[in-house]
Amino acid sequence: MGVKRRQTKQKPPRIDTGGEERKSHVVSESRGNYLVWLGVICVVAMGAVTVCKYNEDGDDDVINDVHHLVPKFTGDNLEEILKYYNVTHSIDKIDRRTNLSLEEYLDVYDAKWPVLITDVVPTWPAFNWTKDFFVKNYGEDRITMKGVEGTLSEATSLALPMKVFAQHSHMGSPRMWTYLDDELFIPHRPKLMQDIEHVIYLEEDYFQLFPAEVKPWSAMLLWGTPYSRSTLHIDPYNWTGTNAVLKGTKRWKLYPPGQDDFLYVFKNRRSGFPLDCYKYNSPIDTHDVNLKRYPNFKKAKAMEFDQHAGELLMIPSGWFHQAYNVEETMAISSQVMNNNNYKAVLQEVFKADNINEKDLPNNYDSFSPEQKVKTVMSMLPRNVLERGKKVTQDALGQINAI
Ligand SMILES: *[C@@H]1O[C@H](CO)[C@@H](O)[C@H](O)[C@H]1NC(C)=O
Ligand SMILES: *[C@@H]1O[C@H](CO)[C@@H](O)[C@H](O)[C@H]1NC(C)=O
Ligand SMILES: *[C@@H]1O[C@H](CO)[C@@H](O)[C@H](O)[C@H]1NC(C)=O
Ligand SMILES: *[C@@H]1O[C@H](CO)[C@@H](O)[C@H](O)[C@H]1NC(C)=O
Repeated sequence: MGVKRRQTKQKPPRIDTGGEERKSHVVSESRGNYLVWLGVICVVAMGAVTVCKYNEDGDDDVINDVHHLVPKFTGDNLEEILKYYNVTHSIDKIDRRTNLSLEEYLDVYDAKWPVLITDVVPTWPAFNWTKDFFVKNYGEDRITMKGVEGTLSEATSLALPMKVFAQHSHMGSPRMWTYLDDELFIPHRPKLMQDIEHVIYLEEDYFQLFPAEVKPWSAMLLWGTPYSRSTLHIDPYNWTGTNAVLKGTKRWKLYPPGQDDFLYVFKNRRSGFPLDCYKYNSPIDTHDVNLKRYPNFKKAKAMEFDQHAGELLMIPSGWFHQAYNVEETMAISSQVMNNNNYKAVLQEVFKADNINEKDLPNNYDSFSPEQKVKTVMSMLPRNVLERGKKVTQDALGQINAI
């Protein structure tokens, strides 16, 4: 009883409002071009009020409790962790699979172990998307992106026309880069949605049972300059994430669960999604680590690999991950909630007080997974749904400002 994906999706915006002042730039000869461009987007951004300061460098306490579904990883019990997952796979190497059956995928990888699937993305019409295609068809449309001058913790979020981003998308340096990360752009353009084909491994998706007001969007456009990167984080609700690279190369670091202590995970952060949830982010940029400040990070173990154009990555539920674009890279990310991760996802929904777990029906435990999800969703109070709707409207309003 697969729950089919549909093409109308709701949006979990990652945009906060709030005043933002940019540092003034000292334009040096060598970096002049890039600084002028960053300067230009700052002016645009200030006009548009679509800006926010990422605040990953705060003083929050770190989380002490660890992922309760897995044994605690201490730095030298990796074997035990792997055994828990019933995998004999090595953390040293990612599996690349072609013609992988759904059964084997669900059995071996789904919500447990990362895998790169090599024969799905090349059949998508989206695999043919190019810079010219976007500039020609959507050049004037506004996208959301973040820009960094300095460290990852100094990222600024803003919205500007696609063509302005595209003019600079090949430019970047270790301390100066931009990253288009727009959750609304594709889902709001049905023609683009049609270019992304159905994936058998993602067919069962209980997110499709979420009310429209709080349903996560399912196709985030990610287009980064060289050196651009994500934060080190777990996806919202600990869902299973997917990432399809269309052009370029992504370098990944994926941390098996149980290592929160080594990653200095922020405590009590909220995602700002339409359906509220905790946000599990680490202040650490794994490509630029301050070991004096985060000494235990040395004990953390990651699977590291490059993902090439045409490969689809499945990121298991609860794995911390950071993506780094080695060159200009275009990708689409999505997520799934299915039999193998729905318990964790629902726990995260309860944890954020969207509904009280105590109000569940007495016979809840006897329900099928699908019935459980439907029941929880039917219990979401009106104010939670209204808030979800407002979060989406506010995000859209910001993008379309000016
Ligand atoms: C590993 O296999 C055992 C025995 O088949 C099973 O009970 C357990 O749930 C499996 N662990 C995971 C994480 O799937
Ligand atoms: C793919 O796998 C199926 C069985 O799962 C097999 O019948 C088929 O021949 C395989 N195709 C290719 C191209 O290897
Ligand atoms: C990509 O474009 C080429 C050339 O126009 C075409 O032959 C091919 O079928 C396209 N690929 C997909 C998956 O649509
Ligand atoms: C989700 O991941 C976070 C961070 O590792 C962990 O603290 C939390 O317990 C996880 N939630 C569930 C339901 O496993």
